[in-house]
Amino acid sequence: MANYLISEVKDNPWARVHAPPRPEARPCRVGPFPLKMPAMQAGLAGYSDMAMRTVARRRGCPYAITEALLDRVLLSGGRGREKGLVLSDEDHPAAGQIIGSEADEMAAAAKIVLEAGFDAVDLNFACPVKKVMGRCRGGYLLSDPDQARQIMRQVRDAVPGPLTIKLRRALDDSAQAADWFSAVFNEAVALNFSAIAVHGRTVEQKYTGWANWDFLRKLKQDNPAPVLFGSGDVFTADDARRMLCYTGVDGVWIARGAIGNPWIFSEFAALCRGDPLPEPPTVYAQRDALLEHFSLAVQIYGEESASRQMRKIGIKYSKLHPCGPEVWRAFINAKNQRDWNAALERYYAQDGPGVRVGSVPDAQDVCNIDATAAARV
Ligand SMILES: Cc1cc2nc3c(=O)[nH]c(=O)nc-3n(C[C@H](O)[C@H](O)[C@H](O)COP(=O)(O)O)c2cc1C
Repeated sequence: MANYLISEVKDNPWARVHAPPRPEARPCRVGPFPLKMPAMQAGLAGYSDMAMRTVARRRGCPYAITEALLDRVLLSGGRGREKGLVLSDEDHPAAGQIIGSEADEMAAAAKIVLEAGFDAVDLNFACPVKKVMGRCRGGYLLSDPDQARQIMRQVRDAVPGPLTIKLRRALDDSAQAADWFSAVFNEAVALNFSAIAVHGRTVEQKYTGWANWDFLRKLKQDNPAPVLFGSGDVFTADDARRMLCYTGVDGVWIARGAIGNPWIFSEFAALCRGDPLPEPPTVYAQRDALLEHFSLAVQIYGEESASRQMRKIGIKYSKLHPCGPEVWRAFINAKNQRDWNAALERYYAQDGPGVRVGSVPDAQDVCNIDATAAARV
């Protein structure tokens, strides 16, 4: 089983923030789209494809964002473009997230996303991966407000409907970086972006340390009007409740917490209704979700490639299984579809109660983030 960073959890200053058991019912929307609850499937390179989004939606997720799609790949019309743009009928409203460095290319890419059927365009000014930063994309733009503004304005002109943006709380902890953040944030507000999502870590932090929920809280207090989504360290439905109540953001991005646990959405919906947290999904419910994910992935990638991808998905689901470490090993050792099926037949043939996941990041996720994102953008 992957190591959990348990030692660090107790150091998280926001782990036990005061929050009422039931979030206050407030409307949450992205432009013309009201969301039936204030949480959404985050953009996740290597994960948040149509398959993951659809599995999440069937468990209550009201809105979803693609992984960052490189503008040049979209413009090139290559194979990567088609797969990144796949949507299902159930997958609405959804935002196609684009990443790039040049205003005209980003504006053209935004149009492609809309033509593909996405309901909104999301700009990624947050990705901290070295290769991405080196090419003046993603989080780099939080250090170049002039270029950031140019991109935002040109994309705004190209996109008649909802336009949103993903930021980090700054490039680093310097005063200069705070000014740059404000310049970009204020431009998004001035251009009437439908929502602004902020990950409470700096770009420099990548995924180390904790997302600063006090920053999100102050940002919302200082800017009550714009729709603000919070991101960072939401690993359980209860984390989502605490972030929402403590920071006052309008909605919560569910990122690592949704990988291998799409029930985080139905659990959060229960908390929003004031119901107790449901029991964790049974082993059969987990098996059904894995098979559903596989069959959707086949629609996008074809059987061979989908089979390869299901290994990493199975690994993530294993944390909910009563024999988690064994199941994890079985999936990690799966070399082909036959091994994957064998793991499923062996460990998911008998029903039983599932395991509740805790509010702790998975060390494996933290290590793999750079590699995953760099490979894609
Ligand atoms: C593997 C991985 C890939 C990610 N890819 C994207 C992405 O493509 N677009 C994006 O906006 N954020 C991306 N993120 C950032 C997440 O959406 C989220 O902001 C971040 O993980 C903090 O939330 P968490 O601590 O609750 O996971 C990625 C994160 C991870 C772990």
